This record gives sequence, C-alpha cells and structure tokens, in this order.
Amino acid sequence: MANSRRNFIKAVGSTAGIFALVPSFEAVGKTLDSNIHIPQLLLSEDVTDNEDYWTWVQQAYSVSPNIINLNNGGVSPQPIVVQDALDRYNRLSNEAPSYYMWRTLDEGREGLRLKLADLAGVSADEIAINRNATEALETVIFGLNLQKGDEVVLTKQDYPNMIHAWRQREKREGIVLKWINLELPSEDNDYLVKKYEEQITDKTKVVMITHLINWSGQLLPAKQISQMVKRKNKDIYVLIDGAHSFAHFDFKIPDLGGDFFGTSLHKWLSAPFGTGMMYIKKERISEIWTMFASDAPQSTDIRKFEVLGTRSFPTEMATGYAVNFHNAIGTLRKQKRLHYLKNYWVEKALNIKGFSTQTSLKPEFSGAIATFALKGMTIAELSAALFKKARIHTTSIAWENINGVRVTPHVYTTLKDLDRLVDTIQHIAKEI
Ligand SMILES: Cc1ncc(COP(=O)(O)O)c(C=O)c1O
Repeated sequence: MANSRRNFIKAVGSTAGIFALVPSFEAVGKTLDSNIHIPQLLLSEDVTDNEDYWTWVQQAYSVSPNIINLNNGGVSPQPIVVQDALDRYNRLSNEAPSYYMWRTLDEGREGLRLKLADLAGVSADEIAINRNATEALETVIFGLNLQKGDEVVLTKQDYPNMIHAWRQREKREGIVLKWINLELPSEDNDYLVKKYEEQITDKTKVVMITHLINWSGQLLPAKQISQMVKRKNKDIYVLIDGAHSFAHFDFKIPDLGGDFFGTSLHKWLSAPFGTGMMYIKKERISEIWTMFASDAPQSTDIRKFEVLGTRSFPTEMATGYAVNFHNAIGTLRKQKRLHYLKNYWVEKALNIKGFSTQTSLKPEFSGAIATFALKGMTIAELSAALFKKARIHTTSIAWENINGVRVTPHVYTTLKDLDRLVDTIQHIAKEI
C-alpha cells in the first residue's frame, strides 16, 4: 500500500495545564501526553502481514525489549496512551480524592458505558462496568434464582473460578451440575454442539459456554450452541464466558444469542488491570440479584450491579482510551493479525521432531492462543527452558485433558519474536 494513503495520527499534548484547570472529566481526557504516531490505514485495507504497520503498533506499547512476553492470555500490557491516562487521572484524584472522583470523574462512567456498548453492539442499558470477568460471571452465577434439583450444563474445560462458583451452589443449595468433557482440539461444530445437547433435560435451567477456551485456544460455536439450547427451551438461560473472545474476535454480543456475557477488559482490549464488563439482556436484568446489595435489587437498571463501594475511578476512565486504541486498529484487523501470528509460529514448529499442538490452525476454531508439547519433556521443563535459553515468557497448562505450554502473542508481538520462539523450540528438541 502506498505511503501516500497513510494518515498519521499524532497524539501530542502537554500535561502542563491540566491539573490547574480541570473543570470536568472531559477536559482531563482531552489532554494527551504521549508522542505516539500510529499509521491509520483505511479500515478496509488488509494489514495482516504488513510488518511496517504492526511495528508502529508495537511502538505504542512500552513492552520490555529484554523479555519476549508470550503470555498475553494471562493479562495484557496497556498501550502508553492508556498508561498515561491512568497516571493523569490518578494524580488528579490524589489532589482531592472525594471531590475529583465522586464529583468529576464519576460522570465519565456513562460515556464509557456508551463506548463499550457500541463496541459490544448492545444498548448501554445492558452494560455494567466492573473489575474483571470473574466478577461479571459470578454476579450472574450467584444472582440467578435456582432451586434444588435444577440442572446447569458446563464443561470440565471451563475456567476454574466459574467452576468453583457453580460447585459452591451445588454444595449449598443442591443444584445439579451436568458435566461435559470436550475432546480438543475439534474442528467439528456438530460434535461440539452435540456434546452440549446430550446434557440437556427438562430440568436444565442454565447452559454455560466458554467462548474461547483459555487452556488451548479452542473457539466454541457459541451461537450454534445457544440456538440449539433456545430451540429446545427458550427459558433456559445461556451464560457466555467471553473473557478471551471480546476484542479478540470480530463479533457483537447479540450475535451469540446468550442472555448473559462476561469479559475482562485487561486481556484483549489492553485496558488497565482490574477492568471487566458484564452484559445482561434487557429483559433479564430484573431476574438477576446483585452481588453487592443495592436499594432496588430487582430493578431493571443495570447500574444496580455497580454498587460496590469505593473503587478505582482512574482505572475506569483510562479504559475509554483502550477502546479508542482498539478501534484505531479495528477488531477484524486485530482478529486476522492475531490468528496470523499464531499460525506463523505453529506452522513452522510443526516441522520440529516431537512437536505437537493442541490447537486448530483454522480461523473458525482458533485465534491467538496455541498450546504445544515436545515429546520427551515435561511441560514445566519446557516452559522453564524457553525462559532460560531465550527469555521467552509462557505459561504451563495442565488442566483436565489439556497439557502443554501455552503461547499467546498480542498485537505488539513481532515476527522476529516468534522466529526466536521457533528457533529455541528447535534447539530444545535437539537436546532431548
Ligand atoms: C476463560 C476465562 N474466564 C474467566 C477468566 C477470569 O478472568 P479475570 O481474571 O479477568 O477475572 C479467565 C482468566 O484467564 C479466563 O481465561
């Protein structure tokens, strides 16, 4: 693509005047103090393998050049513009905390709600802003009216926090958990939908779906599963764990057909640490009890879920900058790049003797995350060797039937980083 088509965004400003004048949260928000230039191409342009473009994106982060961070699935770093906003709002708050946080910055939450709702493709009245996916999803798990004997369908590959929440309800109230054990990776949507269908009975009240399975990067056909569930009984609730799919894959929450969706924003959106979002379909809001009591727990106002006492306003306010940064790239372009990065290294590594992966290479079934093993080595040894030999940070996965080292690049990951990963795996394989 021609350079002449590039239009460079330059975000420059000075912090000098902000603390003197700050009449409203907008005024603080308008002042940017980072010198970041990201080439903004036409959104229709395919930049999947345009390394010039992604090098600029990398420069918008402050990631260490001395560690190759390939555990972005755990939590992601924030672009500098988000870090700067967080810092500014924090410093402002510290000038007079209750004044700035409760009279000024608090106003910003409604704007953030609109921004997140737009990204999610839902009404702002269906979005609650909270601290992480665990809080979002457990609010629904504990907030649902369920009786002894009511059945909940879930998989052994769901996230431990959600499993623990359901088990607690099983112990305390006698609800019944109907377990699915998925054989992964799978490139067969019929198989995946059938596994859920087999567990549904006339006592089923909830089906929980992890949209992208964190252990191995398997993308589940959430829409087809929801459709199957609702065809059987439209009153069965569908709860979707979107911790890893939001801002990673190009979809709108209603496309999935669920009643509830919870996600972290500190993963793929690169928002400040400790940020999350909950979606509840409008007509379901009154049915869900709040985790922290409000004066009207059965109200239809989504804001009832945000009554949790003093929290970090700077964190919430800086989240809007992460949405802007994400939108500047565009969700589809990000999805394609993340999938490309995963396939880039896995396809090369498949030639290494003893290498195996537990992740599909197809875009319908995977994104950035891949989990792999090397024959003759434990996963803990493998992960440690990657760090020792080449400062490559990954995580070891041993959960149910999934065993391997999980590698998760992000938009700032370069092909050189991934070449180093493959070379190092090759090196280790030769030494086994
Ligand atoms: C599938 C899944 N759900 C939920 C969570 C919990 O996210 P958080 O730590 O933001 O609460 C994670 C975290 O890795 C996850 O992978």
